[in-house]
Amino acid sequence: MPESSAVQRGLQDVVALESRICFIDGKLGRLIYQGYDIRDLAARSTFEEVAYLLWYGRLPNAEQLADLKSRFGQLRVLPEPLVELIDQLPVEANPMDILRTAVSALALFEPEETKPGASSIGGAQRLTAVLPTILGHFHRRRRGLPALKPHPELSQAAYLLYAILDSTPTELEAKAVDVALILHADHELNASTFAARVTASTLSDLYSSVTSAVGTLKGPLHGGANERVMELLDEIGTPHRVEEVVKAKLLRHERIMGFGHRVYKVEDPRATILRDWSRRLGEAKGDLHYFELLGQLEEVVHREKGLYPNVDLYSGSIYGLLGIPNDLFTPVFAASRVAGWTAHVLEEYQDLRLIRPTAKYVGALDLPYVPVGQRV
Ligand code: ACO
Repeated sequence: MPESSAVQRGLQDVVALESRICFIDGKLGRLIYQGYDIRDLAARSTFEEVAYLLWYGRLPNAEQLADLKSRFGQLRVLPEPLVELIDQLPVEANPMDILRTAVSALALFEPEETKPGASSIGGAQRLTAVLPTILGHFHRRRRGLPALKPHPELSQAAYLLYAILDSTPTELEAKAVDVALILHADHELNASTFAARVTASTLSDLYSSVTSAVGTLKGPLHGGANERVMELLDEIGTPHRVEEVVKAKLLRHERIMGFGHRVYKVEDPRATILRDWSRRLGEAKGDLHYFELLGQLEEVVHREKGLYPNVDLYSGSIYGLLGIPNDLFTPVFAASRVAGWTAHVLEEYQDLRLIRPTAKYVGALDLPYVPVGQRV
């Protein structure tokens, strides 16, 4: 038998590479992008500044920021054949499948971007700029609305809302989404970022890496959890049912979505900020239904299981209040995380080493080969 070796299931606690992009202190509940605390960035920055920070390792000056905003504005238009391709896809499809297909197909129209290397910063900006257009276009089509006209003036957050909802958001609505985009933009070696880096480490291109990442984010244990939180809230209905529903789920060993985290052993700092935004937006809209249910849910899950909320607990309540449908929550997450995925791919190209772990073989050895006609 091969030599036995310890297996770290799910690669838990394995340090796979060095990175300057993102630091998580799971014990103190801190999240840092390129040296800056997420709390400062959420309070004082914008998604555009954060994307620049992740890609270039420093905050932009006024001119660099204006330049990036203008580039985002120009890069929002989809190639016409890709619009036609999206129009042929089933309207009942999962929007994450549409996003994955569209990112993959976009590469065919931008062959200069399918070469790996540091120059891929153009592709990083292109993908970040265009993801809201893809989502907006698909969502409009399934509602029978005419094609989306990209709006070059709006911030990424405001454009994302405009693309999905077909109306220009208020300042408060756009700021709520801007904060959500900042908070979701990167998270060290989460599963989808790792998938992107694995793909890049084979010297494959940026668009292939992001395609891998979109497929990975789709899973309910990763990006799909916020949709499930909203389904749970609808199942619960009123605050007095929280206890009964949670206890029944835990008895059945079901997971309560929006709680627990592989790295944070205390409250996820993003959940703290989003809780505040869920309340602010709820107050502004005169609808605190979800906010109150979530507060109850937190209390019961912490008492029964000792678990803390993660980023997905409150994000859905914010998106729901804004009118974003549940099945676009994960695509909205992708529209933010694309900045982090691409920053990690660029970093991978700078310090490339094929990512290829090993498995502990637990199967059979030396089986005698039986010809097909003699097998039972
Ligand atoms: N509900 C109920 N029990 C939970 C939960 C939960 N949400 N999370 C962890 N546990 C329990 C497990 O059942 C296990 O209990 P046991 O030891 O009695 O069997 C224990 O806590 C440890 O769980 P693990 O699965 O080993 O922890 P892991 O680090 O793998 O889990 C994960 C992290 C996948 C996020 C998990 O907490 C989970 O499934 N949460 C719900 C899904 C979710 O909210 N995902 C979003 C994460 S944030 C993001 O990706 C953006």
